[in-house]
Amino acid sequence: MAEQRAGRVVSRRSERIQDAVPFRMMFGFRMHSGYAERRLEPGVLDLTFGDPHEMQMPEYVEALRSAAVPEDELWFAYKQSERPAQDAAAASLERVVRLGWTGDDLRMTTGGFGAITVAMKVLADPGDEVVYTLPPWFLYEPLALEAGLAPVKVRAAEPSFDLDLGGIASALTPRTRIVVVNSPNNPTGRIYPPELLLGLAGLLAEASARFGHRIWIVSDEPYNRIVFFGNEFHSPAEFYPHTLVCYSYGKTLLAPGQRLGYIAVPPGLEGRDEVLEAVDMMQIAAGWLFPNAVMQHATPALEKLTLDVAALEAKRDRLVGAMREIGYEVAVPDGTFYLWPRSPLPDDEAFVADLSRRGVFVMPGALFETPGWFRICLTATAETIEAAIPHLRDAFEAARKLRHGGVVEADSGQIP
Ligand SMILES: Cc1ncc(COP(=O)(O)O)c(C=O)c1O
Repeated sequence: MAEQRAGRVVSRRSERIQDAVPFRMMFGFRMHSGYAERRLEPGVLDLTFGDPHEMQMPEYVEALRSAAVPEDELWFAYKQSERPAQDAAAASLERVVRLGWTGDDLRMTTGGFGAITVAMKVLADPGDEVVYTLPPWFLYEPLALEAGLAPVKVRAAEPSFDLDLGGIASALTPRTRIVVVNSPNNPTGRIYPPELLLGLAGLLAEASARFGHRIWIVSDEPYNRIVFFGNEFHSPAEFYPHTLVCYSYGKTLLAPGQRLGYIAVPPGLEGRDEVLEAVDMMQIAAGWLFPNAVMQHATPALEKLTLDVAALEAKRDRLVGAMREIGYEVAVPDGTFYLWPRSPLPDDEAFVADLSRRGVFVMPGALFETPGWFRICLTATAETIEAAIPHLRDAFEAARKLRHGGVVEADSGQIP
């Protein structure tokens, strides 16, 4: 049947998703950078994705090993949200965001992906709009499209990369149902200050009253425990009760292949039970988006573990210091495991291509719809980061020559 509709095999929705900016860009990045073939070659320095580069903590492995030993005949039965997992997750969320959370307020999901997907589908109908800030976590767009929502993108204020409240205010329409907030932010590492979140809360309360329906915040906060010394994380939920908190353990435990996360609805929110009930049903209808039984049995033990934030901070300081000394413009990230430097060539894809020829892989800002910048991931080992510094220096020098009297026009993006 599908072929009969204008020669297509797949649905229009599939085509729209495949055509989303990040998928097109990601495909291009993997195809043209040589990343797919070269990433595991000896000597290649991979600073792209937030994947682990060292063996997992033994305590993590032990938590999964013991959770895999059945204690009763229902151990591996269908699982929705398991009470001990919910309670452990709520207790730890309470240490980060003090709103009096209990296990009743949370539903366990297949990581942040599952939480965001369910939040979008529960809060908005096909045709509604979801607003988020550029540069974004690049998968908001496909998740929104899959839910039938129209992405509305607002550029962050450069170079602070704070939310642009004026821009958000002008992007709101009677079709807006959700504003996604991601703090600590991937890719910029920015933690939004309380004043800004308070401003956003006021703006959304006013717009909700004006449009006659509630605009919700989906607070995507998988890095809310990866906060560097001297910084303080605040969740939008502290300022705006109509907020669904989406969390993933993939970052704090640096084990993104083990899908575990949750969606949390603030206690005391009017209509909370209705939302939670809708979440329960949507998790089933969207394809059983609950973490598997072993991950849920392991959650109380996993909650006691975290990656070494001090070691991450040491890598951040080393690389920011070295890059600034070379001449890069790079902010000190408040949290997360990313750096977001300005590309020394206006064409970030050309610059990233040059770095990849030197054996260093990073992500171009174009992938985040923010040309002129690039992302470095600090989950690489300290040795990898150290080894990348001379290449970052050489690439910077090559870019500088190109910009100042090089053979090629500065903006052409060509590397000799
Ligand atoms: C901002 C942000 N949100 C959500 C996710 C999804 O997390 P997970 O893969 O653990 O579900 C990621 C992963 O990179 C992320 O960076």
